[in-house]
Amino acid sequence: MVTILVGGQWGDEGKGKIVSYLCLKDKFDITARAGVGPNAGHTVEYKGKKYGLRLVPSGFLTEDTRLLIGAGVLVNPEVLLKEISELGIEDRFGVDMRAGIIEEDHIRRDKGSSHLKDKIGSTGTGCGPANQDRANRSLKLAKDVSALEKYITNVPDELHKAKQEGKKVLVECSQGFGLSLFYGDYPFVTSKDTNAAQACVDVGVGPLDVSDVIVVFKSYPSRVGEGPFPTEMDPKEAERLGIVEFGTVTGRKRRNGRFDFELARKAVLINSASQIALTCIDYLDPRNKGVRDYELLTDEAKAFIAEVEDKVGVPVTLISTGPDLADTIDLREEKL
Ligand code: GTP
Ligand code: IMP
Ligand code: MG
Repeated sequence: MVTILVGGQWGDEGKGKIVSYLCLKDKFDITARAGVGPNAGHTVEYKGKKYGLRLVPSGFLTEDTRLLIGAGVLVNPEVLLKEISELGIEDRFGVDMRAGIIEEDHIRRDKGSSHLKDKIGSTGTGCGPANQDRANRSLKLAKDVSALEKYITNVPDELHKAKQEGKKVLVECSQGFGLSLFYGDYPFVTSKDTNAAQACVDVGVGPLDVSDVIVVFKSYPSRVGEGPFPTEMDPKEAERLGIVEFGTVTGRKRRNGRFDFELARKAVLINSASQIALTCIDYLDPRNKGVRDYELLTDEAKAFIAEVEDKVGVPVTLISTGPDLADTIDLREEKL
């Protein structure tokens, strides 16, 4: 059984939090990372500790979950090895032999290009130039990096074996629908598609292996970097609402906006999403912060959740009321 989790806006919807919540709650046997690469920054907060992850899947808190990175994901070995050792996950981590490798030259080209860095507002992590080299068939792969040797694996083989054994697999994507190379506002997008079908390809499963697609939406979406943001609000309004955030990878201030129902509908269609996880409900009203019982949410929050379900047409099964994993309302038993 494979569940895919994707972002429905411009990234930073809180995928890291939802993935780690699901892993702890549902005891997934494997979490496999899809998505572009170390341009992502997932935040996980649990029992007073805060983790910022760029490559290791966010399911690391569950001690017996195997953690994999798929062939479609770009890897910066330095960033990856640091995360593995900081988290102490050496014995349960694997990276597909075909994952692409980011080298110093890619980072130099990303940061040194006024088109990428200034016009697009890239993260400067080398992902765009590495994907150029992948398309040019001149990119180094993980199997050629001796420092990664002990972690090299065949992710599709592992996932298909897990499926035969009836195990549970969670595929964690990065970025979001609005940053898709094909469906976002080109050229203000990342260097690859960011949707569920791409996540399948990234880790090597087929569409019929997938039983659930969870799309994560933030109640007030954010965007970093350049590009259109139809529902963007004045930064002063964001400050007044107390919803200003800074990027995990680049430290840049995130732009904020109001929920865009039209974008959400498109994201649900293209991802064939079966469930919605709605994060940052506390941004609507601080009284919702840390609430763990649906009945205790404000009437405004309940009305907003109902409006999302009504306009987008998919049940909101998970509601996040704060960054900590415990600040989650799980309605899956009632709604599915
Ligand atoms: P990318 O993979 O980079 O797209 O990131 P992401 O989707 O994993 O999100 P990221 O962790 O970068 O940003 C989400 C931010 O919101 C983090 O700082 C989280 O700790 C925080 N967060 C997640 N859920 C909630 C919530 O319900 N309320 C509040 N206040 N913060 C939340
Ligand atoms: P790149 O992926 O570094 O080339 O950046 C291209 C665009 O995608 C820029 O607008 C970045 O800010 C944005 N982007 C890439 N990864 C993320 C992410 O994980 N969260 C939010 N924005 C991202
Ligand atoms: Mg992020």
